[in-house]
Amino acid sequence: MNIENEIPLSEAQIAVHWREEGYFSPSPKFIGQANASDPSILERFAEDRFPECFVEYAELLSWDTYWNTVLDTSDPPFWKWFVGGRLNACYNCVDRHLQADRNKAALIWVPEPEDEPTRVVTYQELYRQVNEFAALLREYCGLKTGDRVTFHLPMVPELPVAMLACARLGVIHSEVFGGFSGTACGGRIADSGSRVLITMDAYQRGGQLIDHKVKADEAVAEAARNGQEVDKVLVFRRYPDKYSSDTPMVSGRDVFVDDVLPEYRGRVVEPVSMPAEAPLFLMYTSGTTGRPKGCEHSTGGYLAYVTGTSKYYQDIHPEDTYWCCADIGWITGHSYIVYGPLSLGTTSVLYEGAPTYPDAGRCWRIAERLHVDIFHTAPTTIRMLRKLGPDEPAKYDYHFKHMTTVGEPIEPEVWRWYHQVVGKGEAAVVDTWWQTETGGFLGSTLPALQPMKPGSCGPGALGIYPVIYDEDGGTVEPGSGRAGNICIRNPWPGVFQGIWHQPERFVDTYYRKYCRDKDSKDWHDWPYFAGDGAVQAEDGYFRILGRVDDVINVAGHRLGTKELESACLTVDEIAEAAAVPVVDEDRGRVVEMYVSLKPGLRPGKEVEDKVSAAIDREIGKIARPRHVWIVSDMPKTRSGKIMRRVIAGISNFADVGDVSTLANPEIVDDIRHHVQRAK
Ligand code: PRX
Repeated sequence: MNIENEIPLSEAQIAVHWREEGYFSPSPKFIGQANASDPSILERFAEDRFPECFVEYAELLSWDTYWNTVLDTSDPPFWKWFVGGRLNACYNCVDRHLQADRNKAALIWVPEPEDEPTRVVTYQELYRQVNEFAALLREYCGLKTGDRVTFHLPMVPELPVAMLACARLGVIHSEVFGGFSGTACGGRIADSGSRVLITMDAYQRGGQLIDHKVKADEAVAEAARNGQEVDKVLVFRRYPDKYSSDTPMVSGRDVFVDDVLPEYRGRVVEPVSMPAEAPLFLMYTSGTTGRPKGCEHSTGGYLAYVTGTSKYYQDIHPEDTYWCCADIGWITGHSYIVYGPLSLGTTSVLYEGAPTYPDAGRCWRIAERLHVDIFHTAPTTIRMLRKLGPDEPAKYDYHFKHMTTVGEPIEPEVWRWYHQVVGKGEAAVVDTWWQTETGGFLGSTLPALQPMKPGSCGPGALGIYPVIYDEDGGTVEPGSGRAGNICIRNPWPGVFQGIWHQPERFVDTYYRKYCRDKDSKDWHDWPYFAGDGAVQAEDGYFRILGRVDDVINVAGHRLGTKELESACLTVDEIAEAAAVPVVDEDRGRVVEMYVSLKPGLRPGKEVEDKVSAAIDREIGKIARPRHVWIVSDMPKTRSGKIMRRVIAGISNFADVGDVSTLANPEIVDDIRHHVQRAK
């Protein structure tokens, strides 16, 4: 069966177009205290200062040895930043703050149940925990510099501790979002070649204690099916002295961390001085084809980039209490809960649970109690909070000076609620466009220097030169009103170094499309293709329309249509499957699945449920489709390819385009009647 689509109907094509909005300015009070309030910063990062401009970011870090080359372009597009430099990421996020801020909170963890105490981890305490855990990883697990280790951890402080312990040793961590299924985690274990899995027995979410250990067993089995043995599973306990899972421990393989950790009490592990170019972590993300890609991020360039952007775009000062209400299992959490904020020595809040649990006031109670002054979240959360409790923020006495949104386009009216009601008209708002691959922000406004415009992320970030190309490589001019593919003309320190052990896929996916000369060593010939559609206004601000490939961004989570379709095909009854994006008021986009059955089988609720269960099992509940449509056949080209564009058009009540060349044009009306009548 051929499930390739001839012409995809991408998210960008179903984007809802809204009109250009006016500007908003931050308050003089905000400007007065901002890290970037002197316009000369824009000149310091102007194009003629590239790549030296990024030295300003690198100088925010503590280096063991300075670099000799800022940017090495000798092997495009495998850019190397700060070559010759050595540093340790854990040292930068922990040790260097001890002298001045030993007893300051590094992390404040808020468990979901409101009657459970908040846990404060000072920099000194973080140092102790990270050192002890690093000693355990090295001696008990035998991990050494360059090894990979997979985490499948929920939002608990043990996760940043484990990340930093790996960074201390130069071990490459690969955290799989806790909401992913065991099977999805197992695939990532195998791909990264990890023989140690670090997990937790259970976590609280939406008012329930969820068994998480069960997923570890599935993950290990799936990894083994893919040729990777896991010999140790370290299990943190959500509650001390109590095992909160019904899943048995496997003797000889599974161990409770708190049973072995006492042996390493008080141990100090010297941070390993790593080359700037050594990988710090892998983060898997969905792609157009095949399995998720392990995006490899560097130590020096990445850390410099997230530190610089945290300082100037999120305006983080060491004395702030900063809360990024996202999950560390995504790139947002790596860059802007852990590495960026801790490198700047601020206090970073971690919240375990659902933002709306037990009610729409929860986030604002946390903000009030902890005196959070910088808040960061995704449009999906903002939409949800607005729907459930539009007037809640006013009931609480908190004051944000700054707020961020990330992950999806934000509708102007949602933006205005965020600004007026959540931000109480006082907070500066930055809409940050970027990706797992890019390490940090690519498009945004410098909050004190560039006015906000609802619905637009802003111009390129400092030192980033975006451009919109059409399909043939022609430049789409600002203000033309035309959409095209947003690309970045230059390398930057946060860009990922490659896809783990798949260098060709890396070049093909991100650089082949607009490469002008594959033998050129000049970065100008190698623009980065982001995979997003965008339009640029006259003022240079970009509006991101969504993915132009077969990736669907559901509530800020990236899902590959191929992964969804493969999951459906594990159900015996299913002959063919197609996943399409559908515009949704709350979640931005959702997935609808179209499936056809093998000959002789009858449609029914039971099959629909099996399809949903297969997606839960193979990917996780976050990928569950809004609807499973069982159709008698799929619209196909004469060569047998499914025309997803046509199906997506029907699901979105949009124009399906020309169907005259289909092998079975009559099916279009059949599906339309079936689906649109039922909606
Ligand atoms: O389509 C863009 C959308 O999210 C994609 C990247 O997803 P992921 O790698 O999971 O990283 C999300 C967090 C950085 C992009 O290709 N996206 C991200 N930020 C924005 C956005 N779309 C519109 N506006 C944004 N601010």
